[in-house]
Amino acid sequence: MRTIRWDRGTITTIDQTLLPVECKSIECKNVNTLCEAIVSLRIRGAPALGAAGGYGVALAAHTGTAGTLSEFMRDIEIESDRIRRTRPTAINLTWGVDRVIVAVRRASSIDEAKRIALSEATAIADEDVERNTQLSRHGAALLDDGDTVLTHCNAGRLACVDVGTALGVIRAAVEEGKVLSVVSCETRPLNQGSRLTVWELMQDTIPVTLIPDSAAGTMMRKGLIDKVIVGADRITKDAVFNKIGTYTHSVLAKEHKVPFYVAAPISTFDSTRLERDVTIEERDPDELRRINDVMLAPADAAVYNPAFDATPVENVTAVITEDGVVYPAESESWNDLFF
Ligand code: MRU
Repeated sequence: MRTIRWDRGTITTIDQTLLPVECKSIECKNVNTLCEAIVSLRIRGAPALGAAGGYGVALAAHTGTAGTLSEFMRDIEIESDRIRRTRPTAINLTWGVDRVIVAVRRASSIDEAKRIALSEATAIADEDVERNTQLSRHGAALLDDGDTVLTHCNAGRLACVDVGTALGVIRAAVEEGKVLSVVSCETRPLNQGSRLTVWELMQDTIPVTLIPDSAAGTMMRKGLIDKVIVGADRITKDAVFNKIGTYTHSVLAKEHKVPFYVAAPISTFDSTRLERDVTIEERDPDELRRINDVMLAPADAAVYNPAFDATPVENVTAVITEDGVVYPAESESWNDLFF
């Protein structure tokens, strides 16, 4: 089942805040409910956000009530901007919105604009599945029979339309007959690792062990991790942005000579910025201070809660894309990705 899809004027998506207890879908019938779903991480993960952005513009078009084409286009631009502003770090969200908006600007009537918006959004979703399938095959070649692979956050089919990036690579290697086991970091504070990655891999019957984020170092030091593989929310020429904690794993991997791989489609690359230009989302302090009614810290504790960090490309062994594997250390082929 696709994580996000369009169904007769509605965006249907798995509510990831309910996992692993319940795998239930929610419907977004207007841009307000979509924005709430993105901000509260009901839908999350960079490629899934790309599809959500594209479908979001289609939803804005579908629910638009303006009488003239220019008023209709003005309303869609306003709604698109609201979608873009929900989460700043994953480039895929803006990329998905922009791709559909650019296509819609070609329309010469409101009906045509609606048709174009939906067909472009559908193309984004379909391509996501295809691209992740390709990158998974490329990445599988980097994993060896018997490997134990550490991953952080959730870069699986839940984070994409389907297939996944980091978990797609692991699944493709298993399908090739390699015996792998996965170590999933819990990924505090919102536990995408324990709630989503462990659930997803168990659904696929791929052996997975949950660890606290802070156990990664000792496992690498003991030689218990053969490779690290993570997804990405944005890749600039100088850094890979991913869930907070990824940078720490990259430093540990470098120290212990463990290959550190990033799996991400080309839509995650940002040619227009460097690390210093990217906004890191900071989230609600209560994500650290409490779980529902249970207090984990004093209610007024000062908190710093960045959702992402930047890993310098010097710490990255290779980036796996749908077009193949690229090594940042080979500066010519790396630079070619940024035009
Ligand atoms: O805050 P989230 O859950 O949206 O963060 C997701 C991640 O950091 C993923 O690792 C990233 O989007 C890659 S998903 C293929």
